[in-house]
Amino acid sequence: MHLYGTMAINAAGHLEIGGCDCTELAQHFGTPLYVLDESEFRHRCRILRDSLAKECPGSEVVFAGKSLLVAALCRILAQENLGLDVVSGGELYTALQSGFPAHRIFMHGNNKSQSELRMALESGVGRIVVDNFLELDQLAQLARAQHRTADILLRVTPGIEAHTHAYVKTGQVDSKFGFTMENGQALAAAKRALSLPNINLMGFHCHIGSQIFELEPFQDAAVALAELVAQTRDLTGQVLPELDLGGGFGIRYHDQERPPALDGYASAIRAGLSQACAKHSLPFPRVIIEPGRAISGEAGTTLYSVGSIKEIPAVRTYLSVDGGMGDNPRTALYGAKYSALIANRADQEPDTLVSVAGKYCESGDMLIWDVQLAAPRPGDILAVFCTGAYNYSMASNYNRLPRPAMVLVCDGEADLIVRRETYADVMANDIIPKRLAPENKACRAG
Ligand SMILES: Cc1ncc(COP(=O)(O)O)c(C=O)c1O
Repeated sequence: MHLYGTMAINAAGHLEIGGCDCTELAQHFGTPLYVLDESEFRHRCRILRDSLAKECPGSEVVFAGKSLLVAALCRILAQENLGLDVVSGGELYTALQSGFPAHRIFMHGNNKSQSELRMALESGVGRIVVDNFLELDQLAQLARAQHRTADILLRVTPGIEAHTHAYVKTGQVDSKFGFTMENGQALAAAKRALSLPNINLMGFHCHIGSQIFELEPFQDAAVALAELVAQTRDLTGQVLPELDLGGGFGIRYHDQERPPALDGYASAIRAGLSQACAKHSLPFPRVIIEPGRAISGEAGTTLYSVGSIKEIPAVRTYLSVDGGMGDNPRTALYGAKYSALIANRADQEPDTLVSVAGKYCESGDMLIWDVQLAAPRPGDILAVFCTGAYNYSMASNYNRLPRPAMVLVCDGEADLIVRRETYADVMANDIIPKRLAPENKACRAG
């Protein structure tokens, strides 16, 4: 069993993360509980930041906040000198309220509202990544009205097919995101952007997909974007200085997965760009990458309490936990696979095959189909690994269940960074209109 980050098994046979005993964390903070390993999170920020800086001087690593965004994390990202990619007014608000420097924020989104664009402009975000012609024109108008100039990148789809799940593939031609390169739309968008006052086109952006294990697609994307810079220069005479190659670097959700070393991506990107820049006589651009899960994923673990265990002889054994698709919808959504361990008997041989089910009212509410665990019993603490990305950020209140708490662990200390929701939180926005007051007559249908 692969242990992630600072995980260890202590003398009591319990799983520890960041020097904190997981059974004590569960007892103290309750379950389900998201546990974030601060050292591992910082370590991964640094590997990506330093390897990119070495291969592509002047580069920037921009953390994809959609994978996980809470106030404490914004502080850590600022300390680690990373940028932040936000994709909605809510993510932008979280970053700004947490004191994250606006000029290091990249504002994304394929259908930004006028108020989100206004908010991005007024707060002075570093880049707005423009997705379509409507947005380009709206942004130009808003910037003119505010007497500002918007520094933008254009999101393009380079037509690169990465081998990953269809729902997280984004670089192919048939995608809702960005300007298509293949049919000349991306070049036309660049020409238009360069003609607009109050718009400062800095370069291009692409994101070819997520959980990608090969380096070649990133190299190909770098080449494709450099070629677009050359075409733009040939058409307009302007050389755009920046290329943002998105995120999507694969991680190890379970033992059968072997992602490349994190520092390998930077050299693949550099190799692609050096070759293309030499070919087209272009200066080497300022490179940006936007990893999400590669930073937050392996740093997160979710602790659950084991409840009922249903054995169906010759079929399977369902082990139910006190969370599920409300705190981690990824298995239900894309058939994601996870690994897990009984945290209070972490030193025991995993000898029993079970499937881990949630407590939500859906047959599809499964966390893991088929995993070997050490003879699980009701009351055990189950640790599901690699849940730092797209778990809390995709969580819901389905079945009116409160969302779990999150703790940040480091050097034997555990700090609450998201408090557990209460039932009162869950119904905080409900309103009963006056006309439904008990003394009023019911409105009759028809
Ligand atoms: C534009 C963009 N950048 C970065 C990311 C981060 O992807 P990952 O978490 O796989 O690195 C995504 C994910 O959807 C994205 O859409």
